[in-house]
Amino acid sequence: MRIIILAAGKGVRMKSKLPKVLHPVCGKPMLLWVIDTVQDLSEHVCVVLGHSAEQIRQVLPPHVEVRIQKEQLGTAHAVMSAQDFIDPNDDVMVLYGDMPLVKKETLMKVVDQHKNDENYVTIISTTMADPTGYGRIVRDPVGRFLKIVEETEASDQEKMIKEINTGIYVFKGRALLETLPKIKPDNAKGEYYLTDTVCLLEKVGIHRVDDSNQFLGVNDRVQLALAQKLKQREILERLMLGGVTVVDPGSTYVEADVEVGCDTVLYPMTFLLGKTKIGEQCVIGPMARIENCTVGNRVRIISSDCVGATIEDDVSVGPFARLREGTVLKSNVKIGNFVEVKNSKIGSRSKAQHLTYLGDATVGEDVNIGAGTITCNFDGKRKNPTFIEDEAFIGSNSCLIAPVRIGRGAFVAAGSVITEDVPEWSLAIARSRQTVKPGWVIKKREES
Ligand code: UD1
Ligand code: CA
Repeated sequence: MRIIILAAGKGVRMKSKLPKVLHPVCGKPMLLWVIDTVQDLSEHVCVVLGHSAEQIRQVLPPHVEVRIQKEQLGTAHAVMSAQDFIDPNDDVMVLYGDMPLVKKETLMKVVDQHKNDENYVTIISTTMADPTGYGRIVRDPVGRFLKIVEETEASDQEKMIKEINTGIYVFKGRALLETLPKIKPDNAKGEYYLTDTVCLLEKVGIHRVDDSNQFLGVNDRVQLALAQKLKQREILERLMLGGVTVVDPGSTYVEADVEVGCDTVLYPMTFLLGKTKIGEQCVIGPMARIENCTVGNRVRIISSDCVGATIEDDVSVGPFARLREGTVLKSNVKIGNFVEVKNSKIGSRSKAQHLTYLGDATVGEDVNIGAGTITCNFDGKRKNPTFIEDEAFIGSNSCLIAPVRIGRGAFVAAGSVITEDVPEWSLAIARSRQTVKPGWVIKKREES
């Protein structure tokens, strides 16, 4: 079988600079949902593009072919633009690029019915509570298919019909090729209607599907939000059935490519985005945004923002931590409140529990970073590295002016401004010595 996906329309109602079919649903462009869904049905996939064709072409997988429809003269005209892609001796499925919810199982069933009944065309119909805008399936009194009538041409009586054309068809290639040239744009819109092929062909089959949500076509941002919500529910159900606890599915956002291991608990207001991978028995949230991160097992991330980080087993992050690009936390690390880590590797069992910035740092194992420690990595021109070796102890409120190295087991006294390397096992104190003046306060009082 061959598959043609129509996506040449402009999508005016989206009111967007981004082409409609590139609007993401759960992090993945609508058109790619459709392409991924049909992937198992056939490797011969062709997308018909028109508006913003070059921009859309950029995101297509390499096996997908493109045909250009220069002017959008209707759905039949769009299929005609891909005429050379149609094989007269093979079936061809036509569907739209703005239907991100359609299921693979549904498409497989319509193909089965098409083959078993040896139809020239089989269309998918469904029942819509509000069928406004759709083509209606008109049947005779005994229920046999008569024709499809578009909203613009429908009589008042036909407008009452709730069974609609989803816009998904399977044709015999030869039948489609023979019928396309016969279509005339003699209708209210002056367009070449693909639905007319169905009226011109014999052996029409209708595959009626109950679950109409699948055929939601996204035309505006209200429908986009609805598609997002339905797709989100699907993703969360897949996770839950895979052994993940989702405490509040209504406030949990997980994008298409995210993986989560079993017995992990996702608390409310959790956002798992991009290529994030989370291990087993983790506790995530409440209120965590995790994007493109790899997270091991038994990790806790609470009220934190993490992007591009690698987090190993048994690590604890937050509340209120920020992990930025290039952060690597080895096993059993603890990153606490108001700690920011950027492009830094933190060795096993090391801790930075409060109010700290670690940037461009390499921290060894069993290091203790005191509250308020800052790696001063930027000198106004360059980013400079800081090295803190195993078992070092950095006292609270210290500034480590990079480039600098704190040797193994070294001890930096609280409040130090460290500008030079500290050798291993030494103490560095870099602050002015305290002076005490006994009775000074009483003397001052007596003077005034
Ligand atoms: C079409 C069907 C209607 C069906 C509905 C389901 C026709 C005549 N009508 O109506 O029976 O109920 O879909 O959603 O087919 N496109 C192109 N090139 C064109 C025109 C359209 O690529 O010249 C693409 C659009 O990008 C869109 C899809 O085809 O993805 C559907 O086109 P649209 O004009 O929205 O068809 P409808 O009027 O909704
Ligand atoms: Ca439409």
